[in-house]
Amino acid sequence: MMASDVPAHVPGELVRETYPFIMGGQTSQNPFNSMVPALHDGPDLIYSTNFYPGFQPVWIPRRLETLQALYMDTEHFSSEAFSPFPMLIGENWSLVPVEIDPPAHSMYRTLLNPLFTPARMRALEDRVREAARDSIAKFKDGDECEFMGAFALRFPIIVFLDLMGLPRERMEQFLEWEFMLLHSLDIEDVARGTRLSVDYLREVIEDRRKNPGDDLVSFAVTATVEGRKLNDDELIGLCFNLFIGGLDTVSTNIAWQIRHLAEHPADQRRLRADPSLIPAAVEEMYRRYAAVTTFRTCIKQTSLHGVTIMPGDKIAMPTTLANTDPAAWERPFDVDFDRTPRHITFAYGIHRCIGAPLARRESVMAIEELLAAIPEFRVAEGEELITELGPILQPKNLPLVWGERNSRREVSAAKPQPAEVSQAGEKRVGPSIEDVKSFLSAKLGSLAPFNKVIAMHLDDDQILLDGTVNPPKLVDLVACNIDVTVRARLRA
Ligand code: HEM
Repeated sequence: MMASDVPAHVPGELVRETYPFIMGGQTSQNPFNSMVPALHDGPDLIYSTNFYPGFQPVWIPRRLETLQALYMDTEHFSSEAFSPFPMLIGENWSLVPVEIDPPAHSMYRTLLNPLFTPARMRALEDRVREAARDSIAKFKDGDECEFMGAFALRFPIIVFLDLMGLPRERMEQFLEWEFMLLHSLDIEDVARGTRLSVDYLREVIEDRRKNPGDDLVSFAVTATVEGRKLNDDELIGLCFNLFIGGLDTVSTNIAWQIRHLAEHPADQRRLRADPSLIPAAVEEMYRRYAAVTTFRTCIKQTSLHGVTIMPGDKIAMPTTLANTDPAAWERPFDVDFDRTPRHITFAYGIHRCIGAPLARRESVMAIEELLAAIPEFRVAEGEELITELGPILQPKNLPLVWGERNSRREVSAAKPQPAEVSQAGEKRVGPSIEDVKSFLSAKLGSLAPFNKVIAMHLDDDQILLDGTVNPPKLVDLVACNIDVTVRARLRA
C-alpha cells in the first residue's frame, strides 16, 4: 500500500511507509536501544502501511495505558484470526484460547488455568532444571558458545516436549518446523511447517485418546467443558497455541536476558554475588526487552487518541513500546533490578499469557544454571550480533566467550579444542546424517537454514550439504572452526 492509497479516516500525518520492525528485516544494532527510543519521539499512534502479517496496513500505538485499554476492550477489538496458520493449510480452526473472544474465551481459561499455576510449574522444576543443566553441560568445559543454538533455541523445546508428553528425540524436528512457521518469508514454507506440525500433533491427540498419560495432551482429550469433550478443532487449536506460544517467545527473552548480562558485567556480578536477586532481575529484563507484538481487529467503530478506528482496521499490540513508554516509567531504558515493574510483556486482561509462570521459571533457571556453570561471560569480540525483526525481535546469534578467550575465532592456546571440533577434524562426527546434523546445529545455532537439506553426508574431509542453504549462514559455518570443507548446492 502506498501512502496515497490509505483510507480516508486515516490522518496523513500518522502514516508511515517504513516501520523499523518490519517482518523480514534484520539489524546489527540493538533495536531496543536504537529503534525504540526514536518511536517514542513520534506520535502516540501511527498507521504503518505494511507491518501487519502479509505486509498489510495496521495501527500501532506506543503508550502503556493505550495498550492496557486495548487489551481490556473486547467490545471494539477482536482477537479472532490474527494468525495465518490454519488458513494457510486450508483449515478453519482457531488458536485456543488466544484467538477466542469472550464469552467463549473464559470457558477455555477455566479449563486451562489449573494446569499452569505456579504450584504446577514448581512440580515441573526438576525436569526443567535438568534440561537446562544438560544443555549447558555440552559447552561449559570449553570457553565459548553460540548461545542461541547451544541453549536458547533448544531449551524451551525440551520443556514443551516434556509438558506435552512427547519424546525429547523429536527436538530437531520441532526446531525445523518452528523455524519454517515463524521465521520463513516463503509462504509455502510457512504452510509446510504448519502442515507438518499439525499432522504430527493430530497423531499425538489420537494416540492419547487411546493411551492417556499424565501429560497436557492427555488432559485435553479427557477434559470436559460445559458437559462435553473438546472437539477435534478445539484440540488442535489448543496444542498448536501451546506449540507456537511457548517456544520462540521463551528463546528470545532468555537470549536478550543473557545478552544483557554479557554486556553489563556489573549486573552479572551482582547476580553472581546474590543469586536470590535473579527473579527480580528477570522481571526487570522482561520489561526492558519485551519482544512480542500480537494483533487485534476492530469490530466496532471507535476512536483512539482522537482518531477514528473503523471496523476491519488492524491494531498492533507492541509490548516492546508500551514497556518503555516514557510517560509510564522513570528512566525507561535503564535496567534497574530494584524496580519491581508491573510490565505487560505477558499481556494484560483476559488473554494475559497462561504460560507466564513457566516462562519465568525457565528464565530464572537458565540464568541460575549458567552463572553456576561458567565464569563471567562476555559477547565475543569481532562478531556482529544480528536481530531478526518482525512481530518478535529475535536474536539470530549470540556468541559468548569466557575465561582467557576474547573472540570465537581465535584458537585458545590454554585449552584444548572442544571435543566436538577435534572429532570433526578427525572425521569422527558420526556416521549418520543425524549425527552430522546435531554436530552442526550445536556449532551453528539452528539447523533451520538447512531445513531443506535433501542429503548430507561426510565425504573424506567434506561435509556435503545438498539442498537450499542460506548463504550468510554458510559464512558462519566456515568461520566456526570446523576443520572440514563445506560444499552446498543452492537450489533455485
Ligand atoms: C517469555 C515468554 C512468553 C511471552 C513473552 C509470552 C507472551 C504472550 C502474550 C503477549 C500473550 C497475549 C497475546 C494476545 O492476547 O494477543 C500470550 C498469550 C498466551 N501465551 Fe504466552 N508468552 C510466553 C510464554 C508462553 C509459554 C511458555 C506458553 C505455554 C506453555 C505460552 C502460552 C500462551 C497461551 C496459551 C496464550 C493465550 C492466552 C489466552 O488467550 O488466554 N506462552 N503470551
